[in-house]
Amino acid sequence: MASNHPLTVSGLSISFGEKQVLKDVSFQVARGETLVLLGVTGSGKSILLKLIAGLVKPDRGNVLIEGEDIVPLSESQLLPFRKHMGIVFQEGALFDSLSVRENVAYSLREAGEEDEDVLDGAVREMLSFVELEEAIGKMPAELSGGMRRRVSIARAIINRPSLMLYDSPTAGLDPVTAHTINILIAKLRDVQDVTSLLVTQRIQDALMLDNSVYSPDQQALIPASPNGNTHPAPITRFLVLRDGNIHFIGTIQQLMATGDPYLLRFVS
Ligand SMILES: Nc1ncnc2c1ncn2[C@@H]1O[C@H](COP(=O)(O)OP(=O)(O)O)[C@@H](O)[C@H]1O
Ligand SMILES: [Mg+2]
Repeated sequence: MASNHPLTVSGLSISFGEKQVLKDVSFQVARGETLVLLGVTGSGKSILLKLIAGLVKPDRGNVLIEGEDIVPLSESQLLPFRKHMGIVFQEGALFDSLSVRENVAYSLREAGEEDEDVLDGAVREMLSFVELEEAIGKMPAELSGGMRRRVSIARAIINRPSLMLYDSPTAGLDPVTAHTINILIAKLRDVQDVTSLLVTQRIQDALMLDNSVYSPDQQALIPASPNGNTHPAPITRFLVLRDGNIHFIGTIQQLMATGDPYLLRFVS
């Protein structure tokens, strides 16, 4: 079972009552790759992310993180694996009773870090990454939707994860704010070589990530060079869930080439 892949999912199945939500789902994600999860509402995108994070146990199948199956692990055995994963839940899901500082510091404190200077330094570094240092003393209720989403990314990356799981990170945001989130996703991917799984209803965001690279000089997304000379195009694949199965997995070019009307409706 040894594998250098950051993520291998094999034979994953889960039912809720009568409904089989995922049926024998298998795929592999390469380092630095972005896998975009598409599917209608209720197709199992969120549950797939929760299975990968070890937050939910499957009925059958394996989730290999860096070649190790996390399915049989207990909550405490999962901790070292979770350290390498950053999870941005649907709606951001900040702790409303905690300040931005404490939200971002949360998992470091959980892991036993008690030195306030270390915590403060780490929190400031993460907030600076998401360009939100000024919000450190604020409460979540004082933040806009886009700021909350950026804080949730800062919280997710404090352990310097190598695998990021994003569940609809731009949902409900205006296009300009959504773009700032896309820039952060690309920045993690291109500057820190993070592997990403991205659930999105906004196909334009996924296509933008596919076509762009983060430029540290310009602090912006710039077009990925098609021939890969100056800025190699990052690897992005699209996985479409349908009736519990993988209906399609491949690049956008492969998806378009299928001519499959079911697939094309996700990308138009
Ligand atoms: N904890 C749960 N209990 C019962 N049913 C669930 C639970 N989590 C998810 N489901 C069901 O699994 C299906 C897939 O849900 P989800 O992964 O949230 O879909 P998506 O994110 O693609 O919209 C839905 O039918 C949902 O009702
Ligand atoms: Mg969902």
